[in-house]
Amino acid sequence: MNGLQIIAAGAAHPGRSVSNDDLAKVVETDDEWIYSRTGIHSRFFCEGEESCVSLAINAAKLALERSGLPAGSIGCCICATMSGDYATPGVSCLVQQALGLREDIPVMDLNAACSGFIYALETARGLLAEAESPYALIIGVEQLSRLLDMTDRSTCVLFGDGGGAVVVRCIPSAAHAAILGARGGMQICCRGAGYEHSYIEMDGKAVFRFAVEAIPKCISYLLTHAELTLEDIDYVICHQANARIIDHCVRKLKADPGKFYQDMDHFGNTSAASIPLALNEMYENGLLHPGQKLLLVGFGSGLTWGGILVSI
Ligand code: ACO
Repeated sequence: MNGLQIIAAGAAHPGRSVSNDDLAKVVETDDEWIYSRTGIHSRFFCEGEESCVSLAINAAKLALERSGLPAGSIGCCICATMSGDYATPGVSCLVQQALGLREDIPVMDLNAACSGFIYALETARGLLAEAESPYALIIGVEQLSRLLDMTDRSTCVLFGDGGGAVVVRCIPSAAHAAILGARGGMQICCRGAGYEHSYIEMDGKAVFRFAVEAIPKCISYLLTHAELTLEDIDYVICHQANARIIDHCVRKLKADPGKFYQDMDHFGNTSAASIPLALNEMYENGLLHPGQKLLLVGFGSGLTWGGILVSI
């Protein structure tokens, strides 16, 4: 059995931070309503030349630089996104070109919405099992501000833009655990490029109910499968959609809230980018050290869900 070790992380966010008070000038809302229901104070929105491609390239460059590896040692590059600049080429291919990654490796985008980063890690683990190189570059990036109807206060206050990347190494592991799933459904929906109304629409209450069921189920599966308990885990990093969802799960699991990292107060919900943005922030704040075990858990549109145990 093989598992994944994260050896470096990087991230990039747009220069413009948009507070709840800024949004209150555009739609009928206020900081108290947004923060009490979501835990979000502000988020970043791209402007000018900033886009998924530039965020992904900057995040990936930083992660690669911090890994100390040459670009030629990367054996696979996957970018999880649902808001890439182009229907094709993928963001990953433009990262490949910018970083000078090898031509004889798999390079692709993957759309599993907010579970995308988990799906990308587990896909890379499978690909690396057969590859010459044990290293993969995994990116999660979103420019959700392009998909927001700024007249719909029930969605435009929730989402933000950003990108994160990690370099992982495939290592022999006695205790790897991962699970990927999906329930199907249109509870969160956004039409593709070319449609007149291409904005995120969501049944918030249905998503909330799904998330608080999926996250504890996923964590319990990973722990049972790896023969571990939450005591053995240093941090749980859930997709950063909403603080109330995470708090609810912590109570359900009777867990230590300090183990469940949260940063949505300043990033908002950045879909596939939220977990790698959190990982980078934790690295930069000195929270991650070799030998630690992390549980990463995603859930989102399509009612995809998934979790993976990784080491540092
Ligand atoms: N400001 C002020 N009032 C608002 C706002 C706003 N931004 N948005 C909605 N309201 C109003 C509604 O119009 C409604 O008013 P009414 O009672 O007069 O009709 C009232 O607030 C209650 O609206 P609800 O939608 O019932 O609010 P709820 O308490 O369910 O909270 C929320 C909404 C925060 C979206 C919640 O359902 C939730 O957290 N859901 C999970 C959503 C989520 O996390 N999605 C992302 C995961 S998937 C992914 O990442 C792609």
